[in-house]
Amino acid sequence: MQAITTVSESRDVRGLNLIASHSHIRGLGVEPDTLQPRTNASQGLIGQEKARKAAAVILQMVREGKIAGRAILMAGPPSTGKTAIAMGMAQSLGSDVPFTILTSTEIFSLEMSKTEALTQAFRKSIGVRIKEETEIIEGEVVEIQVDRTVTGGTKQGKLTMKTTDMEAVWDMGAKMIESMSKEKVIAGDIISLDKSSGKVTKLGRSYAKARDYDAMGPDTKFLQCPEGELQKRREVVHTVSLHEIDVINSRTQGFLALFSGDTGEIRSEVRDQINIKVGEWREEGKAEIVPGVLFIDEIHMLDIECFSYINRALESELSPIVIMASNRGTTRIRGTNYKSPHGLPIDLLDRVLIIPTPGYSTPEIEQILSIRAQEQEVDLEPTALSLLTKIGSETSLRYASQLITTANMIASKRPKKTVTVDDVTRSFKLFLDTGRSTKYLAEYENQFITDSNYTVNGEDSMELS
Ligand SMILES: Nc1ncnc2c1ncn2[C@@H]1O[C@H](COP(=O)(O)OP(=O)(O)O)[C@@H](O)[C@H]1O
Ligand SMILES: [Mg+2]
Repeated sequence: MQAITTVSESRDVRGLNLIASHSHIRGLGVEPDTLQPRTNASQGLIGQEKARKAAAVILQMVREGKIAGRAILMAGPPSTGKTAIAMGMAQSLGSDVPFTILTSTEIFSLEMSKTEALTQAFRKSIGVRIKEETEIIEGEVVEIQVDRTVTGGTKQGKLTMKTTDMEAVWDMGAKMIESMSKEKVIAGDIISLDKSSGKVTKLGRSYAKARDYDAMGPDTKFLQCPEGELQKRREVVHTVSLHEIDVINSRTQGFLALFSGDTGEIRSEVRDQINIKVGEWREEGKAEIVPGVLFIDEIHMLDIECFSYINRALESELSPIVIMASNRGTTRIRGTNYKSPHGLPIDLLDRVLIIPTPGYSTPEIEQILSIRAQEQEVDLEPTALSLLTKIGSETSLRYASQLITTANMIASKRPKKTVTVDDVTRSFKLFLDTGRSTKYLAEYENQFITDSNYTVNGEDSMELS
């Protein structure tokens, strides 16, 4: 195998996640030193104090990088904030600690085997922090001179740079000239050039030139001309996930696959070699492992094969912290005939720490609904909010939260757009909640297609939450 690359240009695409129903959540809302949840709405989260504190403690352990291979189960009824708290955790982790979200049903729909999908999710959640020395040129630009050939095709140029102690001239090729003009570098700028990648970074402008131009933006940073040598060696640190290293180095795909997300199956030899290499880097002090977090939502949707994979993966040396969420009581484990608490096999349950998320009180429901309305820029009359709260506590928080949107649509037909009790009542009548829908089904049972006239090989159909 060739040298292993760890740099890709696709870092920005990672973590592109549109989860609109949790868009109001910006963190766990805890005090940074005591990890005590703030009592008022904080960072979008309300109530559920014990679970938030537990989540914050886990995050603290993740940040210290001390634990790996642990599993946590968030267990509670539907819409009690399990996913919301996980989103809060994701928001408060540092940018170089990986956080991966996997919804269990995704595993059955990807065009790869279940174990491959799980392996990728695990490896996405483990970061490798790599230290590298690069050579840079840093100083004040004295002059940029670009010569064009008559046709304007090829370009060549010279770059003069200085520090307080020296001055030197370099030849520039077409590519270098292009990156200089892209960064709009002019004489008097203080810049840093990465010699291996050719990356140009504008650090600011020299004080000496502060008065030459008055057309500078207000955010221009003025700096002293650097001292000492122009060429320096500098240590740079970057963090990539094991999965990114896998993809970049699996020769058939290359890093472009990271853009499309279509990474396919990765051969196990590639992974073995990468594990060995990363192990060597760790021994040489060139790399550190950063165990991140893998959040598996709706874990009860996984089957016994997946559970045994997770069990084994948690024992491996390279393992993230796995947080799972389940809204099931004692239920059948998929792929078996056994029943078990939360739909998880006993041996996996045995190694998890359980964080319960109990249901909300009425004032908490009111506060959450009010935040959701603000987030969607919906004006609710106070009476409309009370009615929604009543609906929320009698049916479900999620249902009430959806009624905000539909009631707002009804209200938007009028010149005065504030949502009234009437709008809420109308959408309550238009859209059934589970309770009324079940009753409706019971009444009109015989007109629907049911199990009695539709069975597949005697197996029951997939259960949905
Ligand atoms: N404690 C909370 N504070 C603010 N919003 C919450 C809270 N708990 C739940 N929500 C919101 O209520 C809705 C349902 O919660 P969710 O986290 O999806 O429930 P679960 O995953 O437990 O089924 C989401 O829009 C979520 O953002
Ligand atoms: Mg959820």
